Amino acid sequence: MDLSALGNDIERVVVSEEQIQNRLKELAAQVNKDYEGRDLILVGVLKGAIMAMADFSRHLQRHVDMDWMAVSSYGAGTKSSGVVRILKDLDSDILGREVLIVEDILDTGLTLSWLTENLLSRGAKSVSVLTVLRKPDAATVKVEAKYVGFDIPSEFVVGYGLDFNQKYRNLPFIGVLAKHLYS
Ligand code: IMP
Ligand code: MG
Repeated sequence: MDLSALGNDIERVVVSEEQIQNRLKELAAQVNKDYEGRDLILVGVLKGAIMAMADFSRHLQRHVDMDWMAVSSYGAGTKSSGVVRILKDLDSDILGREVLIVEDILDTGLTLSWLTENLLSRGAKSVSVLTVLRKPDAATVKVEAKYVGFDIPSEFVVGYGLDFNQKYRNLPFIGVLAKHLYS
């Protein structure tokens, strides 16, 4: 779905489709190098990371396992609830494995710090994080994302997997949602 089909729902585009794809390609090259000769399993965080998993994994020049988790830290609005729940767990045993979590956005960091701890407690050998976007609030928490696509301002964004009330995930770019839609 592109801008012409969106009316005035999108205030402005923050990251274009081309920028996203170029950046994911760069990050994949880095991951190829960092994990050369090592085991790797990608854990995508549903549902926001679907686009990033699909595109990033196809830029990797190596075999990789892919698994998914669904967690919830947001309600139906635009504010974090502070509560993380597992809605769908991994199918795989990650004991002794090297894990790369693929996320859409690092905001308060609540989701990712909880998830990192959770996966480490299962005996993963290592847990690193790749996130497409990072907001400024992420600086205040103790989550280290090794691979970051873009640093963006603290505004509510949608597209490329990110939703507002389950909509806008299917935009190929990332944009600021017009305030009239939620304020
Ligand atoms: P955190 O726990 O505050 O870091 O929030 C992480 C989760 O909140 C992400 O995985 C998203 O699903 C959601 N989220 C945070 N910021 C946004 C946004 O600007 N748009 C859409 N979803 C967001
Ligand atoms: Mg998410």
